[in-house]
Amino acid sequence: MIRVPSALPAQTVRWHEFPDDTSLLANALARVLAASRDAIAQHGAFDIVLAGGNTPRKLYRSLRNADTDWTRWHAWFGDERCAPADDPARNSRMARDEWLDHVSMPAANVHPIPAESGAREAAVLYARELRSIDAFDLVLLGLGEDGHTASLFPGHNWGAHTDSPDVLAVFKAPKPPPERVSLSAQRLSRARHVLFLVEGAGKRDAIAVWKGGDAIPAASIAPEPGVDVLLDTAAGS
Ligand code: 6PG
Repeated sequence: MIRVPSALPAQTVRWHEFPDDTSLLANALARVLAASRDAIAQHGAFDIVLAGGNTPRKLYRSLRNADTDWTRWHAWFGDERCAPADDPARNSRMARDEWLDHVSMPAANVHPIPAESGAREAAVLYARELRSIDAFDLVLLGLGEDGHTASLFPGHNWGAHTDSPDVLAVFKAPKPPPERVSLSAQRLSRARHVLFLVEGAGKRDAIAVWKGGDAIPAASIAPEPGVDVLLDTAAGS
């Protein structure tokens, strides 16, 4: 069993189980929009970190119709696959296709991880870009069947120490492609809100292990306010 480094505070998790994906999506959308209103009211901008994979697609699609000032939003990415910038496998391409290319968010406000440059170079470049942000307003994350989140995988470095780098180069990732870039656990934890979206029976084991207190990457995301996990019944009870 992998021990979460003691440097991180214990994770506070609020579990929210929904009977179906529609009710989960409605709640997720309401949370994102509420966080955006609060952030824009408090500091004039909304810095959101986007999750990759397939689960967030419906949420991103529903954000197309949001009644908001898109010029105040800044879209960051929690991780990226090392592939050409426009490759369909890219998390940034998925977010553009489902949402970002359908709203008037300024191009300068979308901050893709330059993973086409290779993991090491991209990690250095993105860490430099992230210096302008102290805490994110909202971090969206998914959960893998092995308990990974972003591109923090079991058996790899999660960057969970307070002095860990902000961005990690990932090699030999068990979920293809093998080369990736990921914000570290400590950087993902510097957030006012962290929201996990988890759907499907395939995630049931990972949720059970997480609830059992085992050290999985998702359990190393420990922001001061705690994390909210929105899961459907298939993934939960
Ligand atoms: C990725 C994601 C990854 C994803 C989980 C869940 O690059 O694939 O960042 O962490 O969120 O693997 O993926 P699904 O939502 O497709 O189940």
